[in-house]
Amino acid sequence: MLWEGRFKKEIDSKTNDFNSSIRFDQRMYKEDITGSIAHSKMLAKQGIIEESESKKIVGELNKILEDIENNTLEIDKDAEDIHMFIESELTKRIGSTGKRLHTARSRNDQVALDIRMYLKNEIQDIIKLIKELIITLVKKAEENTETVMPGYTHMQRAQPITFAHHLMAYVEMLLRDIERLEQTYNRTNIMPLGSCALAGTTYNLDRNYVKDLLGFSDITKNSLDGVSDRDFAIEFISDVSIIMMHLSRLSEEIVMWCSWEFKFIELDDAFSTGSSIMPQKKNPDITELVRGKTGRVYGDLMGILTMMKGLPLAYNKDMQEDKEFIFDSTDTVKICLTTLIPMIDTMKVLKENMKKAALKGFINATDCADYLVRKGIPFRDAYKATGTLVAYAIDNDKTLDELNLDEYRKISDKFDEDIYKAIDLKTCVINRNVIGGPAPEQVKKRIKEVKEILGKK
Ligand code: ARG
Repeated sequence: MLWEGRFKKEIDSKTNDFNSSIRFDQRMYKEDITGSIAHSKMLAKQGIIEESESKKIVGELNKILEDIENNTLEIDKDAEDIHMFIESELTKRIGSTGKRLHTARSRNDQVALDIRMYLKNEIQDIIKLIKELIITLVKKAEENTETVMPGYTHMQRAQPITFAHHLMAYVEMLLRDIERLEQTYNRTNIMPLGSCALAGTTYNLDRNYVKDLLGFSDITKNSLDGVSDRDFAIEFISDVSIIMMHLSRLSEEIVMWCSWEFKFIELDDAFSTGSSIMPQKKNPDITELVRGKTGRVYGDLMGILTMMKGLPLAYNKDMQEDKEFIFDSTDTVKICLTTLIPMIDTMKVLKENMKKAALKGFINATDCADYLVRKGIPFRDAYKATGTLVAYAIDNDKTLDELNLDEYRKISDKFDEDIYKAIDLKTCVINRNVIGGPAPEQVKKRIKEVKEILGKK
């Protein structure tokens, strides 16, 4: 034990298991070693340890890294955490020089550093995956700028849109997700080493040198905050929760679109599952799991917020729990994105079924009212006339385009032959040519912009 001077007994073994975090924090071995190398170089530069000692420490830390990566060094499950394990392994190998590494450092600033470094990498990976999903959605959108489908409110067919327009709505959400992650990255990119246990140190450290070595943009400005701040992790899990909420909404729609009630899409066999009893079944399990896993990421967010809320300054052991929340949300969002991308890429869009659904449900009723408005009728009157027309059509089991001109004229003498063109679904979509609207021209324009945005990212 590193603190054996103060203690007369070994720690109870069950207490040791309870106390230890090595089971989950071992995945930060690389960050821990990289941080220690920078710290050791700075100690030598400041004359706190000898140059030769630092060289020895750095050389051996690199060897430990290599040994862990090629599986020749097994991580000791009885160690309290990854920081203790690496330090004691170093000391085992190079003796008392290894004991100099922890000068002017505490595990409290060390763990804060490691998590920040770990998250910086994860954020970049997740942004890459989101970009891939956007590219996949944009590709599907490009193939469907003319694919008319009903747009819904209250799950009732409402107005005509295109499948491209619908998919591009998710692209907008995902672009915001990237933006949020980029902002979180900036606040994660601050170097806490030098805060030490809580009150800084009496040694003359060069914190900015460590910052530069490790590629951070700035250093923390208060030692208490430096070791007790987990805002960046909470923000990160909150970003991931929002991403998962988006993926879950998309998943829910895919579940519906696969059902016989909709049949708007068909998933590739490689990305769906069957039933053990019902031979006809093809289930969208992936999307259901994404929807389900969203709940566990929300749990991670609630967990970390609740864990932090009552903690006095500065470090408290409660904070060791942060890592399981962070790792779980990272792993979950990555696996969800990785699985969704090829599933969406290979799904078949059943355009005819979308069109059939669009033809039923009077989704061109607003366009019919707008037609009357263009003929000089105030919108409220046009709205009422069209409502009467819809009620008549329902009673006679017809759609608006199946009514003849006499039937139209019974409601308003403003109706002419050109009403049929005006309520044609293609026309209805093309005419929604406002910026942000479903008109193919608008959606194509936005697709082009998105490609440019992605090119710059
Ligand atoms: N394993 C600990 C954690 O993850 C490292 C910091 C321990 N510091 C302490 N003073 N016990 O939070």
